[in-house]
Amino acid sequence: MDYFNYKDGQLYAEDIKVTDLTLRYGTPLYIYSRATLERHYKAFERALKAHNHLICYSVKSNSNLAVIALMASLGSGFDVVSEGELRRVKAAGGDTHRVVFSGVGKTREEIAYALNERIRCINVESEEELLVVSEEAKKAGVVAPVALRINPDVDARTLPAISTGLRSNKFGIWREDALRLYKRIASDPNLKAAGLDCHIGSQMTSSVPILEAADIMIDIYKELLSEGIKVDHIDLGGGLGVTYDEEQPPSPDDFFSGIIEKFSDLDCEIYIEPGRAMVANAGVLCCKVLYQKDNGSKHFVITDGSMSDLIRPALYGAHMTIENATLRKSDVLRKCDVVGPVCESDDFLGKDRMLAVRNSDILVVRGAGAYGSSMSSCYNSRRLCAEIMVSGDRANVVRRRQEFSQMWENEALAD
Ligand code: LLP
Repeated sequence: MDYFNYKDGQLYAEDIKVTDLTLRYGTPLYIYSRATLERHYKAFERALKAHNHLICYSVKSNSNLAVIALMASLGSGFDVVSEGELRRVKAAGGDTHRVVFSGVGKTREEIAYALNERIRCINVESEEELLVVSEEAKKAGVVAPVALRINPDVDARTLPAISTGLRSNKFGIWREDALRLYKRIASDPNLKAAGLDCHIGSQMTSSVPILEAADIMIDIYKELLSEGIKVDHIDLGGGLGVTYDEEQPPSPDDFFSGIIEKFSDLDCEIYIEPGRAMVANAGVLCCKVLYQKDNGSKHFVITDGSMSDLIRPALYGAHMTIENATLRKSDVLRKCDVVGPVCESDDFLGKDRMLAVRNSDILVVRGAGAYGSSMSSCYNSRRLCAEIMVSGDRANVVRRRQEFSQMWENEALAD
């Protein structure tokens, strides 16, 4: 069931007409559906319920405090990749003890902060980082729970830019180094071998790669056991894909059923770090049509939303569905490029789309809940846009549109 639905030619977000929201709150505007977020979280819970597990929602996919707070209220843990994300979890009332900290370049200060917050686990990505974690744990007088992020050299068969589990990527520690480094952890009084970690890529539309990665992780788990090192969890990262166009990703149940089977005789918790599948289709970006023009071969629809609000199409050539919030039977579809006002040729939201558009119409980009707002910027000194969360017939502003002066409040004139 979709919570963004047409009734009488008008798109609704749950029970509210999208064009009423854009009139009230302006454009560009992100709209999130609370019921969709809840449904997605529960689908992950259901998929994993047969085994001890922890869902660590990946904050980078949508780091709005209201989204984090909702996830926390549903019982979620969190995957963070910076001190800023960890501070967001705290600010939203999340439990820092249910946080795992990933990322290839954590600073010493970030590691110290995370240890001080007693997070669940640091996912370490290099031998040098392990040393820093040990030193900071010693300074703080704590034992740091760590997992090594293993690069299992598995092809996630997804877009090259979001594939992370291959040897050619910067991520993780080679499998051959795992045993030696876990022995080192075991002999270091400042460290505890809490888990094993991997994340092979994003937008996966099959469970085959994650099953391959799980096999490798389980092999390492058993190898460690035989050496007397017992970790309490295996973290399989995020990566479940969504439908942007015609992809047919598995449901969480189907994605994880093989995993649950593989873990059934292991005394080891499963951690996962889903981002995209949790939030992408719970959010849309609404933009107003400003102008239209033809250059002979192309028809351009110019909106007030741009790559500064949603960079996925410009950055990855990602396809995202675009619809008109108002459908009129009499209007004729024509092929158009939907573009923004930013001064870059690559500032587009969609190319060669069949749309019927009138000026001032509201165009809605679907699947924008993940890596939309969290990757937005103020390029061209455009303000960060407003975000709304809808629940039934209620709407809350979960981020006010940025004030112009906020864009330069930390700037000053030089002498
Ligand atoms: N865990 C780690 C360590 C990650 O690096 C990521 C995403 C996730 C979990 C969450 O993965 P998900 O479930 O969302 O696939 N900006 C790109 C996606 C980058 C993904 C980065 N890592 C996009 O817009 O497609």
